[in-house]
Amino acid sequence: MNIEAVQPANRLIQITDPHIGGRPDYQLLGLDTGHTLNEVLSAVSADSASTDLIVVTGDVSANGSEAAYRRFLHKMQPVTTPWFWLPGNHDNPHRMDELAPRRRPEVVPLGAWRLLLLDTSVPGQISGGFSAAELERIGQLLQSNREHPVLIMMHHQPVPVGSHWIDGHMLKQGREAFIGLVSDAENVRAIAWGHVHQQFDSHLGHIGLHATPSTSVQFTPGSGPFAVDSEMPGYRWFDLREDGSYETGVERVAISEYSVDLASSGY
Ligand SMILES: [Fe+2]
Repeated sequence: MNIEAVQPANRLIQITDPHIGGRPDYQLLGLDTGHTLNEVLSAVSADSASTDLIVVTGDVSANGSEAAYRRFLHKMQPVTTPWFWLPGNHDNPHRMDELAPRRRPEVVPLGAWRLLLLDTSVPGQISGGFSAAELERIGQLLQSNREHPVLIMMHHQPVPVGSHWIDGHMLKQGREAFIGLVSDAENVRAIAWGHVHQQFDSHLGHIGLHATPSTSVQFTPGSGPFAVDSEMPGYRWFDLREDGSYETGVERVAISEYSVDLASSGY
């Protein structure tokens, strides 16, 4: 019998856009975001035996308040898998670092892979950006990790996903330079982000591009103006193989008492 050897892989879970408020009764468009995060975390933990790492790609909080981060950290307390986070436009990166000083490294090793956790947030802006200094640092990190397959994780989308209104809030400053850097670095295998609250899978040359559903409210793919989707919250998994190849997919949870204002015209 000829059994093909299975490549060893490390499983990474991406959780994104929890939008946790400071108060237990906080709702986003009528949705209890604390409850939906609980549901997603229990779905992830049901699979925790095979999970090596969790990364939360921004909009952890609804408003950057200390109370919101304390609520989030409390919800993560039972999670035994190592986890890290990075900020989105609704976050306060300094407050995140004060409350959890070791949760935001630039580079995370995972088997043969290196995860680059990038901060695309710009104070006072919904859209994202990289300063010249940040782009220079990204170039250095790609260079110093050139022997490893790299997965870049960040909050804002570096390419349009097809939802017109949220593409108006994508990565803006430094976008072309960033695309040039990652395209030139032959070891960048994939880029994963949040912010768009929907699944998206595409390619930029040899680089896989992946957006992930929020653990809270979903936005409608392909919409012109702001539109809330009836899809359930979810998360994304990556199986990162030692040879630099990977598989990825999205899992959604089933929440019986899910309630969101589908007619809302903005948030
Ligand atoms: Fe966002």
